[in-house]
Amino acid sequence: MMSDDETYRVRMTGVCKRYGPIQTLDDVSLNLKPGEVLGLVGDNGAGKSTLSKVLSGAVIPDSGTIEIDGKVVSFSSPADARAARVEMVYQDLSLCDTVDVAGNLFLGREPRSRVLGIPFLDNKRMHDETREMLDRLGIVIADTRLKVENLSGGQRQSIAIGRAASFDPSVLIMDEPTAALAVAEVEAVLDLIRAVSARGVSVILITHRLQDLFLVCDRIQVMYEGRNVAERKIGDTSIEEIVNLIVGRKFVARSARASRGEAAQP
Ligand SMILES: Nc1ncnc2c1ncn2[C@@H]1O[C@H](COP(=O)(O)OP(=O)(O)O)[C@@H](O)[C@H]1O
Ligand SMILES: [Mg+2]
Repeated sequence: MMSDDETYRVRMTGVCKRYGPIQTLDDVSLNLKPGEVLGLVGDNGAGKSTLSKVLSGAVIPDSGTIEIDGKVVSFSSPADARAARVEMVYQDLSLCDTVDVAGNLFLGREPRSRVLGIPFLDNKRMHDETREMLDRLGIVIADTRLKVENLSGGQRQSIAIGRAASFDPSVLIMDEPTAALAVAEVEAVLDLIRAVSARGVSVILITHRLQDLFLVCDRIQVMYEGRNVAERKIGDTSIEEIVNLIVGRKFVARSARASRGEAAQP
């Protein structure tokens, strides 16, 4: 939920990114308050993933400003964003299928202990900490030694979210986290979003499942062909309005008439 604190956790302004002839982002802005959940929507190719990757340090914009907690930042890699406590769960999840659950959660920062001055991978500690982390996030996975390739879509999604959450982010971006999930698994991801935002984490949720937005978001931002087109507080809008904004339909009344087969006004 949104806090009363009026300072912004994230302020992106004038963000532009061009790929060859395509102006993927054209003067885009995005604001996010502490603990706020923002739904970022738009048709395929609207620029949602690119904008998110600018914030997560994976894409370097041509121009524009990013402020985190009032300080201007300049990310040249995801590691820079991580240091500023921004984490993103990418659409493709970026997990290692042949590595087990604990290994994926600790990828690149496996706990070591020293025996006679020589560092060893501390397997027990890694699995214990994984179990704690999963329990804390309410993620149900029987065995932390299971290889990720043997998990369901929802469990894989949970691992990717768990890994991002374990960096203790203040901003968590999720790109289509529920696209491939069963109903119960979607519920689990939405619960997780509620839980982290209640702890003050700001969340950006990219999804085509508009009904989900109305369950967890405080606000919705709509993009169309690389530009901001609208922003709505969740209580001030409806699925119908959001659909119209996504497809770029400006005259809702006229298109409703057209769909009833009535003649257009001259
Ligand atoms: N690395 C890239 N190289 C070239 N074009 C890209 C690249 N990334 C994104 N684009 C283009 O930018 C546009 C927006 O893409 P994207 O941000 O993925 O949109 P969305 O996530 O809203 O579907 C698309 O036309 C896409 O083809
Ligand atoms: Mg995308």
